[in-house]
Amino acid sequence: MTAILTRRRFVQLSVASVALFSAGGRAATWFAPSLTYPSIKVGNVAKIEVGKPAYFNYPDNRSQAVLVKLGREALGGVGKDRDLVAFSASCTHMGCGVQYKDGRFVCPCHQSMFDPAKNGQVYQGLASEWLPQIPLRVEPNGDVVATAVEGLIWGRVKNV
Ligand code: FES
Repeated sequence: MTAILTRRRFVQLSVASVALFSAGGRAATWFAPSLTYPSIKVGNVAKIEVGKPAYFNYPDNRSQAVLVKLGREALGGVGKDRDLVAFSASCTHMGCGVQYKDGRFVCPCHQSMFDPAKNGQVYQGLASEWLPQIPLRVEPNGDVVATAVEGLIWGRVKNV
């Protein structure tokens, strides 16, 4: 018996290979661990004052984050006035803890500045990346819940 590969047989084998590869790829994603962010209460709208930052850990105890009510509408802001925002508190330059002051986040190490009303955009200093923003959700009872991180937290290879 000769092993001649006809054009028809080649096409049949190719289609079968693609089907198997595709199914294998899907199977791999079914068994991959889920990388979901925790939903964590970080405050309640009734107790959050304009200009007073509240620090919390998110998405786990290794990273500090900060919640602030700006008193002016912000991109990604939630709440009645769309002015509640949260960010990773680690500067994107070398990881120092940023501080909220006069409507902006300032890094005490090398004075990078980030705009909390514009998704954490860096506008001065040595940092080149924006401060990772933490999307928030407000529950019917006023609880403010952290839901994810947009951007990689400084010093980590993955957020979760
Ligand atoms: S660590 Fe923040 S500017 Fe250098």
